[in-house]
Amino acid sequence: MLNIAVLVSGGGTNLQAIIDSIADGRIKDTKIGIVISNKKDAYALSRAKEAGIRAVCISKKDHKSRQDYDKAMIETIKEAEVDLIVLAGFLIVLSEDFVREFGGRIINIHPSLIPSFCGDGYYGLKVHEKVIERGVKVTGATVHFVDKGTDTGPIIMQKAVEVKNDDCPESLQRRVMEEAEWIILPKTIDAIAHGRVIMKDGRAYISDEV
Ligand code: GRF
Repeated sequence: MLNIAVLVSGGGTNLQAIIDSIADGRIKDTKIGIVISNKKDAYALSRAKEAGIRAVCISKKDHKSRQDYDKAMIETIKEAEVDLIVLAGFLIVLSEDFVREFGGRIINIHPSLIPSFCGDGYYGLKVHEKVIERGVKVTGATVHFVDKGTDTGPIIMQKAVEVKNDDCPESLQRRVMEEAEWIILPKTIDAIAHGRVIMKDGRAYISDEV
């Protein structure tokens, strides 16, 4: 059984996609041990509680230094004995200590086709604003392992989404979620739960063998 921690900051629709996928069997042999938000009022926390999942807020504001905050995060995650940390709209850049501690066991969902429209400053609606500004015709979402850079870790799964002429950032954000994010994040977790994500020469591959 893969025990996962899901880290969130906002609405938690990706968290909901994971909860629903576990419930209907699209993700098997997996449980969410803990949901952690850096924001007390994140709706994601209510979604977790509603599903009977342990949900806690660990806020940077409640800690006197970044080190103290990281220590609290690391301790809480260690105590929860999770195998995988899923960043699902978690808006705090992880520290090197955190990444070192859980190296190779952290994944993130990003709402573009990395390496386009990613890195510092590319989060939330901003990503979709830039996509529209640049006039690209195809965007999408990416699930990748987290390393010490921003959106630079090995890519595990991607899915493309068409950009329509009349898209605004909000409509595009919604379509990228519906057509890509809520599909590839659960698929990746299921693949990891079944040992189907393999690393070779610094790249991640999904094997078809179960
Ligand atoms: C998603 O677009 C995700 O790709 C990005 O932040 C957003 C989170 O949305 N990292 P939600 O909280 O899952 O609804």
